[in-house]
Amino acid sequence: MQTVTVNLGQRSYPIELGEGLLSRVGELMKAQGIGGRVGIVSNPPVADLYAEELRESLREAGYETALVLIPEGEAHKNTASLGSIYDALVEHRFDRSATLIALGGGVIGDITGFAAATFLRGVGYVQIPTTLLAQVDASVGGKTAVNHDQGKNLIGAFHQPRLVVIDMKTLRTLPEREFAAGMAEVIKHAVIQDAGYFGFLEEEMDALARMEAAAVEEAVAVSCRIKAAVVEQDEREEDRRAILNFGHTIGHALEAFTGYERFLHGEAVAIGMIQAAALSAGQGLLSAAELERIETLVRRAGLPWRIPDDIALEDLVAGMALDKKSHAGKIKFVLCEGIGSTRFQWFSATEIVQELASRPRPAPKR
Ligand code: NAD
Ligand code: GLY
Repeated sequence: MQTVTVNLGQRSYPIELGEGLLSRVGELMKAQGIGGRVGIVSNPPVADLYAEELRESLREAGYETALVLIPEGEAHKNTASLGSIYDALVEHRFDRSATLIALGGGVIGDITGFAAATFLRGVGYVQIPTTLLAQVDASVGGKTAVNHDQGKNLIGAFHQPRLVVIDMKTLRTLPEREFAAGMAEVIKHAVIQDAGYFGFLEEEMDALARMEAAAVEEAVAVSCRIKAAVVEQDEREEDRRAILNFGHTIGHALEAFTGYERFLHGEAVAIGMIQAAALSAGQGLLSAAELERIETLVRRAGLPWRIPDDIALEDLVAGMALDKKSHAGKIKFVLCEGIGSTRFQWFSATEIVQELASRPRPAPKR
């Protein structure tokens, strides 16, 4: 087992990482001094795979548990599902000593965290992320949210978990496409923060794509350390934490433009990272060789890497200009300055279209 600590004063917490940790969650929670009753929030497919082992571990440690299920999928990360979680907590007469556990991917993590932030003005919660994306990104850092019809994550709060438990074995049941989507965030961490880690990913990408346990565990541990360090510097995204949005400006626009149906979040981020890297190269911040290394790594991870031909750049960029993060018609991009470092730069819609239109694009998907 490895431990990565997120150091946030009184809100500090450990990320426990290793093989087979699901059966030790009760013990790990006791070690954190977590008492009270436990509400496990999950969705049916993930609960079928892992809830019983988790509940057994909690029972052994003396916890009383209730299982609360919401439907699977991003479309259910909404106030209706949130309401059903509150209903179950009230029905089970949970009090302020209660703890929620998020058992699942980022959708379950985000909604459970928001339920914990708001139920009885705030109860504790534990993250047990079961997708690669949630292990390296969503479960760490305390961003919680549900979606509104008008946009993703519009209703949310910062609320740090008290413990994150990552059982590597849960990745073995994850569909390949979901695993690859998580690799996009892994690559992002290397590009924005750590050239040595980027080199490790280049060396190990074949093993990673085959989901070899040792390589994957190392990548999850390093990514958690990188994310923890960024969150420690800027917990509430007043400035520096925004570097974690590398690739997300175009990624979000792609997701929104395609109705959140064509790309997984990580796939859209992969395409967005290549475009952000291309913008960086256009500004002289990244060499052609470095741009090619990023592109090659993304492709080797089994991720899409170019904006498909059937999507007009102008439409994407128009969507970005309407984004809540744009200001006076300019859009803030995270650019890389070489591999392992970043800077922020504002672009107008016209500038982005000019820069990106000069890049070759692949044939549309059939
Ligand atoms: P997800 O939660 O939808 O999970 C993907 C799919 O995998 C789902 O169908 C799920 O049921 C299934 N699944 C989960 N674990 C499994 C397992 N071990 N075996 C088999 N199937 C499994 O998607 P995700 O990519 O984990 O998370 C995306 C969400 O995370 C988005 O809502 C995004 O906004 C959020 N997010 C939050 C943060 C944050 O900092 N809070 C960061 C990144 C993303
Ligand atoms: N996923 C971006 C962040 O946690 O800030």
